[in-house]
Amino acid sequence: MKLEYSGVLKENLKSGINLNSMSAVTRNKHIKTIFQKKCSDMLDWLDLPEQNPVDIKVITEYGKYIRKKFDNFVVLGIGGSALGIKMLQNTFVDSINKDIGIKIYVCDNIDPDYFVSLINKLNLKKTMFNVITKSGSTSETLAQMSLIINRYKAKKIDYSKHFCVTTTKDNVLYKYALGEGMQVFDVPQGVGGRFSVLSNVGLVSASVMGIDIPKMLLGASVAKSNAQDVTINNIAYTCAYINYTYLGLGLTNLVTMPYSDRLKLVPDFFAQLWAESLGKKFNRKEEIVYAGQTPIKTLGVTDQHSQLQLYSEGIKDKIIMFITVANADMDEKISQAVPFAEHLQNTSLKSLLDFEYDSTSYSLTSLDRPNYTIILDKVDEYNMGKLIFFMEMMTAFMGEFLNINTYDQPGVELSKIYTKACLHVKGYEKQAKDIKNYSISKKTITMEN
Ligand code: PA5
Repeated sequence: MKLEYSGVLKENLKSGINLNSMSAVTRNKHIKTIFQKKCSDMLDWLDLPEQNPVDIKVITEYGKYIRKKFDNFVVLGIGGSALGIKMLQNTFVDSINKDIGIKIYVCDNIDPDYFVSLINKLNLKKTMFNVITKSGSTSETLAQMSLIINRYKAKKIDYSKHFCVTTTKDNVLYKYALGEGMQVFDVPQGVGGRFSVLSNVGLVSASVMGIDIPKMLLGASVAKSNAQDVTINNIAYTCAYINYTYLGLGLTNLVTMPYSDRLKLVPDFFAQLWAESLGKKFNRKEEIVYAGQTPIKTLGVTDQHSQLQLYSEGIKDKIIMFITVANADMDEKISQAVPFAEHLQNTSLKSLLDFEYDSTSYSLTSLDRPNYTIILDKVDEYNMGKLIFFMEMMTAFMGEFLNINTYDQPGVELSKIYTKACLHVKGYEKQAKDIKNYSISKKTITMEN
């Protein structure tokens, strides 16, 4: 993995920065704070690259068993319990139309149009559900689980053999699942949802997909070593520094733009890390800071024909992080172009993709639009492990620059409280009244038929 950063340098653009002004003292302090786990008790994700090979073997065998026995594997989870899995599914299965002998679905929403129509069409006897919720109390996931258990009961099928549960040891769900005879995988207490893809949260699904988990963890451990480098060669730190510096200059949005369909869902995974970790009202000194940088999800070249105009000439509030792949697994040359497109003759699709990226990054630089690029050698387990861990480290370093708690999400709680109030949960009577009054007074305009 490489970082290419010409598009943020002073010599190339008016708003360029000087990376030599990055303080070595601050960098050492930030690295120490994180790796000595001084700033939070939610840093056990740092240990995930070095998991016990025996545990990994057990998970790998479990994946093989699921693939052999079932036609469908359905993940029930949301947020950090789903986004990493969706990304892996896209990278290693869907985007290359790989037949793995089982269909995988990740249900991270409760919209009945999708969810009910899906469970209506599944043969429940040939389906395994993986309920993933670290807290064991997320309403959306428990609603899905309850609905499906009812379906099994109605058909008089023993549902316990159709559920495996991934949750924190000894919570109510953990105990319930064990009591029902379901397979249970645990999530370490010190690993937060959005940092959990390399734990059992993501690895159970990864094994069902046939992903080489040791290779992915090896890639993550290389990124972990790089994140402890005390020079500019620390890619995660240098990227965090670039973003932090530009945030100070008013670039409040970070666009992620992979030039690869296989990496199409990386921006979704990264958006949660960046938004939920860094969007905080208070810093560690309890001062109001309204911190954060808005992540924007795009895809190259597709969004060159959709959003690039805004990034090139619109409001100057964005920095762009490109992700490119040096070597594609497949390619094809245009041996004979249609007569009115001779310029495409003998060009391969991959070289056209590369030209498009080169042109876009250069044109943005020439228009004084900061951008940098993460270059992967190829798309495989090893490089995905690197990319995932790099993104987690970059987020952790950005949190140190902002001096906030990267690992909590108090803002998410408020909407959870109002949902409970709507469901008449005891203790939320005042919130129930407030939201009811607000609903009654809502103003609307109707478009007539
Ligand atoms: O990153 C997080 O902590 C959240 O996005 C959670 O993953 C999400 O809210 C789901 O929580 P849980 O796994 O407890 O169901």
